[in-house]
Amino acid sequence: MKNFSFKNPTQILFGEGQIAEIANVIPADARVMLIYGGGSIKGNGVYGQIQTALGDRIVTEFAGVEANPEFTTLCRAADKAREHNVTYLLAAGGGSVIDGTKFIAAAACFEGDPWEIMLKGGRNIEQALPFGSVLTLPATGSEMNSGSVVNRSEIKAKLPFGSPLCYPQFSVLDPTTTYTLPTRQIINGVVDPFVHVVEQYLTYPVGADLQDRMAEAVLSSLIATGPKALEFRDNYEYRANLMWCATMALNGLIGCGVPQDWSTHMIGHELTALYGLDHAQTLAVVLPANLRIRKADKREKLLQYAERVWGITTGTEDERIEQGIVATEQFFQKVGAPTRLRDYQLGDEVIGTIIKQLESHQMVKLGEKRDVTPEVSTAILRAAL
Ligand code: NZQ
Ligand code: ZN
Repeated sequence: MKNFSFKNPTQILFGEGQIAEIANVIPADARVMLIYGGGSIKGNGVYGQIQTALGDRIVTEFAGVEANPEFTTLCRAADKAREHNVTYLLAAGGGSVIDGTKFIAAAACFEGDPWEIMLKGGRNIEQALPFGSVLTLPATGSEMNSGSVVNRSEIKAKLPFGSPLCYPQFSVLDPTTTYTLPTRQIINGVVDPFVHVVEQYLTYPVGADLQDRMAEAVLSSLIATGPKALEFRDNYEYRANLMWCATMALNGLIGCGVPQDWSTHMIGHELTALYGLDHAQTLAVVLPANLRIRKADKREKLLQYAERVWGITTGTEDERIEQGIVATEQFFQKVGAPTRLRDYQLGDEVIGTIIKQLESHQMVKLGEKRDVTPEVSTAILRAAL
């Protein structure tokens, strides 16, 4: 196991009715900015519960954070936070709203051009406003991590940043807030956490037995619960399990002391920025192709994955590896996530453009061994056609 340092300061308030707890975790004298997206929180009672919990605190609102949050929108929000002397941010929504809030928290305290935050990956963040979140779409893990992804459409750039100052102080996870999710977002909420786990687990062995088994547990739980959550729309238990899986998939715990890949994510971000696919849709397309192209490097873990996650124990090693990848594809398809570029009407004419974008974002040495060069990414995209 590699050396690691692990600290996760986010308080989780889990369960039905927990939005009321906000009254106790945001300071009584805070000047709050409530940040949300296109209005889903007004249709499912979340907005009203937040209003009640905030009581007589001074509250400013910022609505309209887009899916794949836009840099210019977030800069306007940061300006508004400064104008109103806001001291605490509250995000209510999915990963985009929470990611956006992380950027606003940093940008509101940042001297100079806030795009510098993105260019430095957040390493230049010295201060950030405190914030909490009410998660309504379990998928990204943003509710309990310090990472964020911001989109800048005019230059077709979707870039990640992170900072220890960007952990939410608390996140409310009330599974009942997810009952209003459209099918497409529930699918995203199964696929994204699945791939988060795979990117931290399917690399090469370092003897991290507990991390491996925790990763396998999250995958097994997603495989068991995902289809049921899609079939039985208002089942609390399935929603609760899906929600906690998504958080556990990317709160740092399973990633302690192990190599991490993230090449599927970085290639996927370019697909979103260029062609507008949802984040998780890109992952379902890129991951199986990525595993096939790099199966020699990932051989031992692919065999472990096939056996422990999918119960595949017969056939030659090569056959078992392929069966594990096929099982992954079939799982994505079963929950409703297409696994090919052609399913989104994208053909080999897009590959050159995607590679150029990866190069322009210095995404040229990806993967756990930093050997996913533009040539390897090209092969992955070809295998995903
Ligand atoms: O904007 P509103 O009206 O709230 O509608 C949203 C949005 O249209 C809707 N929605 C959310 N909760 C709902 C709901 N609709 C009905 N009922 C509810 N309860 O869902 C739509 C999509 O929301 P979004 O936040 O964009 O989805 P998601 O949570 O999948 O977030 C995706 C973003 O997170 C980034 C992605 O790149 C993408 O930009 N990621 C962030 C990560 C992180 N911070 O660690 C890691 C991930 O790998 C990912 O990259
Ligand atoms: Zn993701």
